[in-house]
Amino acid sequence: MDLNYDKIIMDVNKMELLIEKLNNQMEGITYYNNKITFVKNALPGEIIISDNIKNYNKYNVATIKEITKKSPLRIKNKCPYFNECGGCSLQHVDYKNSLNLKYENFLNLLKINKIKCENLEIIKNKNSFGYRNKIELKIKNFQIGFYKNRSHELIEIDKCLIAKKSINDCLVQIKSLNIKNGDIEIRSNYNDEILLIINTLDKIEININNLKKHLKLVGVILNDKIYYGDNFFYEMLNNLIFKVSYKSFFQINNYTNELMQKIVLNNISKNAKVLDLYCGVGTFTLNTALKAKSVYGVELSVSSIENALKNKKINKINNVEFFQGDTSKIVNKIGNDFDTIIIDPPRSGLNKKTREYLLENNFKKIICISCNPITLVRDLNEFKNKYNIEKIYLVDSFSYTFHNECICILNLKEKLC
Ligand SMILES: C[S@@+](CC[C@H](N)C(=O)[O-])C[C@H]1O[C@@H](n2cnc3c(N)ncnc32)[C@H](O)[C@@H]1O
Repeated sequence: MDLNYDKIIMDVNKMELLIEKLNNQMEGITYYNNKITFVKNALPGEIIISDNIKNYNKYNVATIKEITKKSPLRIKNKCPYFNECGGCSLQHVDYKNSLNLKYENFLNLLKINKIKCENLEIIKNKNSFGYRNKIELKIKNFQIGFYKNRSHELIEIDKCLIAKKSINDCLVQIKSLNIKNGDIEIRSNYNDEILLIINTLDKIEININNLKKHLKLVGVILNDKIYYGDNFFYEMLNNLIFKVSYKSFFQINNYTNELMQKIVLNNISKNAKVLDLYCGVGTFTLNTALKAKSVYGVELSVSSIENALKNKKINKINNVEFFQGDTSKIVNKIGNDFDTIIIDPPRSGLNKKTREYLLENNFKKIICISCNPITLVRDLNEFKNKYNIEKIYLVDSFSYTFHNECICILNLKEKLC
């Protein structure tokens, strides 16, 4: 957004601050005492007054007391906790504008890092509210909620608008469990079944029959032990079934997860030999096996790999092998007879050994999936001399928050083929 500074008249006596742009966490950037200052829920071009500016080593954090010049993009946020909660960061603009801001922000990140990609497409979420299949809550002194932005102070909530209805129904029931302190995770699958994971030092009695009256309860896990039912449920993506244990990773948005599976499948050639690193319970592994000649999946988490092996059986897919272990060790043993590599690392990005393995071998195609644009561009920078970035899909799996999923399609440069 171009700011017309000539027309902006600020009253310096009122300590007005001009928001210049957004940072990667979608916080407004301004300058106070010549120091970069972040302002949550502020938009580019706005002028705000703050009476609360916290001074950190390298930056300040300011909160909004009053907005003296509002952005035309600003709308009233739906969620009553938005101004304090650390979860969402874009509920003060409508969905279409939130996508535009994310798109611009990502383009800018590519530009700063000198990463060329002519083809960047943003993929929308079908339901921008009510999409999350998992939430993690804190309980402090009988209050249940999330942490406030950049703090460990709790904000008590009755409902989370970006979570699925089945999760909010569960939240209502948890309030009656009378837990004083602890953590709770609620997971809900494609069929709205619930897995409830509780960690607390309090002695608690859970009335399962009462919970079952209100919820499709599949299991309760208390302090890592099954208290009721099962410690897993089944998920479904594009007609494949996945067993998912309470400890195993599964993407939090089933709608965009299905789209991501389709994008990856479209970029796999028939008869490809695929290696899926960081494969979780085998979602990309088993989906791509429908088209590829063979797929090898590698995953560190024992529960995920147990699920993946089971998922191979349930879906009767035979051209797949799974290996449990750290990618940095497995890549040394697995050989290099692959033409397509899928990588979907945790937020920290690729580890050194895996990066070296990918750079040493001339794999024809690398499909990089990432939920952290910062480590993604660091990794893309390593590949950009050998690979053309044919396309990047920015997938809005985490609507109204600053997070995204990215799928980058990298093709080996012709002279290296
Ligand atoms: C972002 S998740 C992706 C999982 C899967 N591709 C999916 O979409 O469901 C990253 C996965 O990497 C696994 N992981 C983390 N560090 C690892 C490592 N060093 N080696 C192998 N897997 C690792 C995690 O357990 C997690 O399942």
